[in-house]
Amino acid sequence: MISEKTNIAVFISGRGTNLKALILRSKKKRCNYKIVYVISNKKNAGGLRIAKQNKITTKIISRLFLKDEQKKLAKILINKNIKFICLAGFMKILSPYFLNFFKDKIINIHPSLLPKYKGLNTHHRALKSKEKFSGCTIHFVSKKLDSGKIIAKKKVRIFKKDTLQKLEKRVLREENKLYPLVVEKLINS
Ligand code: GRF
Repeated sequence: MISEKTNIAVFISGRGTNLKALILRSKKKRCNYKIVYVISNKKNAGGLRIAKQNKITTKIISRLFLKDEQKKLAKILINKNIKFICLAGFMKILSPYFLNFFKDKIINIHPSLLPKYKGLNTHHRALKSKEKFSGCTIHFVSKKLDSGKIIAKKKVRIFKKDTLQKLEKRVLREENKLYPLVVEKLINS
């Protein structure tokens, strides 16, 4: 059993499969982190239900998420002793101002093999370009979208008969496995 678990927050906008994977892992006695806060910019995000079922405090941030609000949020997180922030399908850009409060402590999971296919519709673009592989990448969040230092990647084969849905499912399965492992490793390092 780990005596002191590291507090983390997870930022979401949607269904929350990565959040769920992070929560499941955090329940293991030997896991070194604890999710104490889930932030969503969408009040209907499915992940909020998962957080509530697991008795994790949630917070909805406004759709505009102005600089002042980011400052307020940073202070709340600091007061809660949050050491790492995991973005998991969070569809808002965090300002450099916010990032500065958590230097090298905010990570993101992206559904492509970065630096290829930054931004949206990654699977569609990978299929259209007839790539043989896609995958997911975990990286530090920096000022430039999907461009921070890469922490880990997992390659996934693209098959000739793949559809968008099939590829997304295959990559997501790997995302859900990789994210908790990387968070634990990062905290240990
Ligand atoms: C994942 O594919 C993640 O890589 C991307 O958004 C999706 C979020 O999925 N950034 P979920 O909400 O964790 O299920």
